[in-house]
Amino acid sequence: MGIPIYTYDAVIVGAGLAGTAAARELEKAGKKVAVITKLHPLRSHSGAAQGGINAALSDEDSIELHEFDTVKGADYLADQDVVELMCKEAPETIRWAERMGAAFSRNEDGTIAQRPFGGQSSPRACYAKDRTGLTLLQTIYEQALREGVTFWDEWYAADIIYKEGKVSGVVAFNIRNLEYAIFNAKAVMFATGGYARAYKINSNAHANTGDGLSIVARHGLPLEDMEFVQFHPSGLSGNGVLISEAARGEGGRLLNSKGERFMEKYAPNKLELASRDVVSRAIINEIREGRGVGPRKDAVYIDLVHLGKDLIMERLPELRDLAITFLGLDMVKEPILISATAHYSMGGIPMDKDGHVRKNNTEFVEGFYAAGECSCSSVHGANRLGANSVLEALFFGRHVGQSMIQDLNEGITLRKATEDDAKAMIDEITLTLNRNGTDTVPGLRDELQQSMTDNAGVFRTEETLAEQVNILKELRRRFHENCRIDDKSKIFNTDLQEAIELGHMLDFSLFIVESALARKESRGAHFREDYDTRDDENFLKHTMAYMDENGNITLDYMDVTLGKHELKERTY
Ligand code: FUM
Repeated sequence: MGIPIYTYDAVIVGAGLAGTAAARELEKAGKKVAVITKLHPLRSHSGAAQGGINAALSDEDSIELHEFDTVKGADYLADQDVVELMCKEAPETIRWAERMGAAFSRNEDGTIAQRPFGGQSSPRACYAKDRTGLTLLQTIYEQALREGVTFWDEWYAADIIYKEGKVSGVVAFNIRNLEYAIFNAKAVMFATGGYARAYKINSNAHANTGDGLSIVARHGLPLEDMEFVQFHPSGLSGNGVLISEAARGEGGRLLNSKGERFMEKYAPNKLELASRDVVSRAIINEIREGRGVGPRKDAVYIDLVHLGKDLIMERLPELRDLAITFLGLDMVKEPILISATAHYSMGGIPMDKDGHVRKNNTEFVEGFYAAGECSCSSVHGANRLGANSVLEALFFGRHVGQSMIQDLNEGITLRKATEDDAKAMIDEITLTLNRNGTDTVPGLRDELQQSMTDNAGVFRTEETLAEQVNILKELRRRFHENCRIDDKSKIFNTDLQEAIELGHMLDFSLFIVESALARKESRGAHFREDYDTRDDENFLKHTMAYMDENGNITLDYMDVTLGKHELKERTY
């Protein structure tokens, strides 16, 4: 076959904040690192994070309050040892980013400015206007380049080399010309991002197709807590493009068709700054009960006019541009139209607090690590606190990078790859490329996204979830038996890439739905209308889901690590 085999100490898949931070640490420690990314690194979805990154910096705040808000926001499903670690290290993570050149917005006295975000006891989100993620990504990428990290831009990692409980590399192809290569390594890290693209209305980049999760799951490895998908309260009406929580943090008010500030009913204390699941359900409820606005009556208003042009231009300039570009509405002069949008994946590839990927509840996969949104540590539990995702990506990226350095120093052996390791993946892609049927990739993807939104969205029931299992099984069958790829060439074949991505989306969606069907309670972002309260007696546990070679899912459960923040009813 003549497939090149490149050898590294560490291979990282994904060049967002987590992957790039890990790569920078590893290379600085003298390890030879490759980052494989299907995009240019600066187009990674971390760059779309707008509103902020949490750290308890001010005198009014504390690490313990940050922990408490995170655990409460998570509806008590977060592992508290991991939460403690992340919150304790948050201030140092900010200082680290700052030392590397990240320009945070400042107060008059020169200290780092912090804004309120949902579910927080104190203004805690450090920010760079409304371009926080991009600022951080540019900084970390620049520093990774400075250390000499090798980036394989526009290469698609399609499989891991996994044998006898050990991962020893990645099989990838060059998107430009479909050339294959093996990246053989002692340590492999997945930082492949989230999966909200499975929903019709979402805030995610086109690239967020959950590839890493399905690649892992197809090897019989578990995915954890997949039923918990976060719906952000404010996506632009019609397309879901993110209007940052910063808009509410700075004082934006939500109004229904009667001009009522309806959050007074749902969260009398925190109002618009309740946790995201609470605000999203309130919005959908207002719309369902006929108090929606806009041409389709499927939105509510967010009103920022009272903040004044100066504040909007200083702190929210990007958001203003987005609303003008996509809706023709200028938030300086009028309220804009928003609704809930699929935004973030709390579940993912299970890992311990140092990034080691789990083989099951008690064992780990040798040489395999995860960090960022594709992973489940579980620091977010059933619902993530706003501005904890950028923190998670940056902190765990760096921390897991350091854990890989330690493991490499203690001696992980390289299992040498051979061309045969790529065979299964190349056969699969060749089969996909040669498919001729009547279904198309965009057609099946639309059906997937619409049905996930209808049946496994903000509100779910036994009936809608069971229907969605059947829909997914049928979509998977049509994808494998009857889906055609029109472009048969090897040059920038986006038809082929989208087909591979659709295959991933169909697989991990089944994990979301089967896990949601079995969780007969409501907790955080998972709201069952037929079981509308939290049930700690039966469901204070993590879901661990496995897929067999026929695409059937089996479920197991794992204990939650509790701690000093005791279980309470969650009110805002
Ligand atoms: O609303 C936002 O700016 C999003 C931040 C986040 O998801 O943490």
